[in-house]
Amino acid sequence: MGNSLKRVAVLASGNGSNFEAIIQAVEEGRINCSVELVFSDKPDAYVLERAKNHKIPFTSFMIKDFSSKLEYEQELLKILKENQIDILILAGYMRLIGNELLDAFPQRIINIHPSLLPSFPGLHGIEDAFNYGVKYTGVTVHYVDSGIDTGKIINQAVVDIAPDDDLESLEAKIHQTEHIIYPDTLAKLINKGE
Ligand code: GRF
Repeated sequence: MGNSLKRVAVLASGNGSNFEAIIQAVEEGRINCSVELVFSDKPDAYVLERAKNHKIPFTSFMIKDFSSKLEYEQELLKILKENQIDILILAGYMRLIGNELLDAFPQRIINIHPSLLPSFPGLHGIEDAFNYGVKYTGVTVHYVDSGIDTGKIINQAVVDIAPDDDLESLEAKIHQTEHIIYPDTLAKLINKGE
């Protein structure tokens, strides 16, 4: 990717605690990139409030306002291109990425998933692992491809499920781990110019 400062967009649908951890790492100089834009497919997502607080430009529109997913992604791609975005970071973006974006950002879309992939992909990774009764679960940072949480794995961290954990305490442990591993992994990737 060369050595110029990478221009990043974050895509998120909800709370944005991972965005917060990433932007803190950027502000502290731990990730050498410039976060140019936050996009949400949910106009009332709290992540947009966080973007505002950090003075990061943000925009939002909903897929239902378009006649197809293709048109929705074309509009998003137009904005990403206008902002000369190099890398897309997904942080709780609750949609499958379509070919329009995949083709425009080959090996340049990164996601975090709250389980040890390939176990427990999909929307309920934490709960599914908890209900299954596994003793170890965790967090995976991976490249995004057209499947559901199937892209090449970049990094993982293990979280143990203790006998006295309930779903709530496990969720807290998972999120704590995410907030460490995601910025660290992005720093390693982006700082060495990959
Ligand atoms: C995280 O658990 C992440 O792994 C998953 O969605 C959740 C987003 O949380 N993809 P937040 O919006 O970053 O707080």
